[in-house]
Amino acid sequence: MLQRPPLIVGNWKMHKTISEAKELVQQLTRVLGDDLARIPITVLAPPFTALSAVAQEIKGHPYLLGAQNLYWEDQGAFTGEVSGPMLRDLGCRYVIVGHSERRRYFAETDVMVGKKAAAALRHELRPIVCIGETWDQRLGGQTKHVLSLQLTEALAGIGKDQAQDVVVAYEPVWAIGSGRAATCEQADEVHRHVRTHLLALWGQDAGTLVPILYGGSVMPENIGALLAIPDVDGALVGGACLDPVLFAKILRIGAVP
Ligand code: 13P
Repeated sequence: MLQRPPLIVGNWKMHKTISEAKELVQQLTRVLGDDLARIPITVLAPPFTALSAVAQEIKGHPYLLGAQNLYWEDQGAFTGEVSGPMLRDLGCRYVIVGHSERRRYFAETDVMVGKKAAAALRHELRPIVCIGETWDQRLGGQTKHVLSLQLTEALAGIGKDQAQDVVVAYEPVWAIGSGRAATCEQADEVHRHVRTHLLALWGQDAGTLVPILYGGSVMPENIGALLAIPDVDGALVGGACLDPVLFAKILRIGAVP
């Protein structure tokens, strides 16, 4: 048994109505055919409105369900928000927190991301904690510093005993949707840095268990090389997960031999 089996997450972002979502899952399953039995751990993260339909559609299939966001309170007067218990009730096992699009367009801060990650764990949802630097921060030599700050705040309320349920996703902001993925050298350097941070925070045993995903312009052409990097334990896929042929290729390449 691999210590960190590959994990591939498809972040659908704000795409797909209910009927389109069902169709996408059916197409993916058709394209995978017999290979469905060999896919890595695969999480589908449709928008909130399609979670229930996708939950039905994946019954009997090896996909797991994820959400793209949650609020940290369990219930109350928080118009427009969705809580951990609600996501669990829908069958979600994972939830993305702190995606750079939420930080950028919805003013999410590291502290908010930390509260969301802790709330997810309280409700047996694995938080996929997203971190990443902008191009300007990279040019300014700030990458590791920025990522360390993001990690420190986002993981502040999470104890060592919960570490095995945490997932970290490194998504350089400049690589998202740009067609310009990080090079293997860049990903290797950052993922090592993140691992070092996790080991310092939670110790050798717990820190080793946390999968670190790479996200940003992941395609069938680059997934193999990225997954070959020791501390790249999977991928957070955006655009390519909306195309069943491309996503199936990514899952085939990510399959455990
Ligand atoms: P792309 O794969 O479209 O670059 O998006 C990455 C992403 O933001 C996944 O969360």
